[in-house]
Amino acid sequence: MKSDRFVELAERYGTPLYVYDAEKIAERCRKVLELFADFDFLPTFAVKANNNPNILKLVHSHGFGADVVTRGEFRACELAGIPPEMLVWNGNGKTREDMEYFIEHGIRYVNVDSFEEMELWNERLPRCASIIFLVRVNPDIDPKTHPHISTGMKMHKFGVDEDQLEKFMKKFGRTVKGVHIHVGSQIIDVKVFVEAYSRALELCDRYSLEYLNIGGGWGIAYKGKGLDIEDYKKKAIPILKKFKGRIILELGRYIVGEAGYLILKVIQVKRTMTKVFVVTDGGMNQLIRPALYNAYHEIEIPNATDEETMVDVVGPLCETGDMIARERKMKLPRVGSYLIVEGAGAYGYSMSNNYNSTLRAAEVLISGKRDQLIRRRETLDDLFRSVIL
Ligand SMILES: Cc1ncc(COP(=O)(O)O)c(C=O)c1O
Repeated sequence: MKSDRFVELAERYGTPLYVYDAEKIAERCRKVLELFADFDFLPTFAVKANNNPNILKLVHSHGFGADVVTRGEFRACELAGIPPEMLVWNGNGKTREDMEYFIEHGIRYVNVDSFEEMELWNERLPRCASIIFLVRVNPDIDPKTHPHISTGMKMHKFGVDEDQLEKFMKKFGRTVKGVHIHVGSQIIDVKVFVEAYSRALELCDRYSLEYLNIGGGWGIAYKGKGLDIEDYKKKAIPILKKFKGRIILELGRYIVGEAGYLILKVIQVKRTMTKVFVVTDGGMNQLIRPALYNAYHEIEIPNATDEETMVDVVGPLCETGDMIARERKMKLPRVGSYLIVEGAGAYGYSMSNNYNSTLRAAEVLISGKRDQLIRRRETLDDLFRSVIL
């Protein structure tokens, strides 16, 4: 997309502003459907990556259900019109109250995280006739991604140890119909999927299970390459072909990550004795990934000056970690102009926060030449709506 378009949107809607490209999201959905065309297949979208119901509606229009972790994410799906039969409930901290809520609201698939959780379901079984239970297996595989988004090694809190599965199935095998596996996010090495899927498949065979949820985790191109989809098709798909039951997929980042942009305004270009800081009107409150994971996001600078230098792009918050880019060589922007932060569609708005009592951004969805405000900017009233004085 041309940078003029972003500038025009920023002037019209203000900044910080999230912009999503509907066509790019649709393209990714179609790619997934094409890869799994020959399967008994339920694609789901991981709502944690982006919870805007308009985005959910869009992915649902391509046949996607959703993976939800909380009642809030379930509510987002309700608002988007995704039926509960197309929803998967994930999580390692499901409360008894949440269980009652999800039973009452007709959740179809539940990924069970532990023996302890399964005991709680067991007590409620007569009311769970329409729920399909899968057990999340921890296969102790290193996904070679950032430690905070690695989930399938023994030291991690997720799932039942593969070594304990026999015991699990002995105890709960009559209720459990499938295996769930998700070893991490932003994985670009196909071998990781090959190993994880092979192991999961072996377990499905051993216990004659009809459902295999292969999680998500497909890496995107923040810097350099994302997951090579052709390679995935060549190496991972044939493994899954051996499975005769239903495959469930839970993708977040791959669907929306590269389709989203965060537009920030340059408030100041500050030169100290040692550094140049580009100060913008949004930082780790709007996009926390650089602060949390040292994540890299490409930045486009419309109408930059000719001066190229090393800078830190920082936000306005009272914390040194409040950073969008660290030690980045780039053309200096002009004060009052805009930065377009790329790859911001996943875990961008959904991880944003109100630190320093700042307001969360607005969101716009563009489709061809049209654009639509899909979430207004927060107001000061929104900030204190839940306060009792
Ligand atoms: C269980 C589970 N499934 C799916 C996902 C989605 O991952 P991704 O956005 O990398 O596709 C996550 C992400 O944390 C997850 O924990």
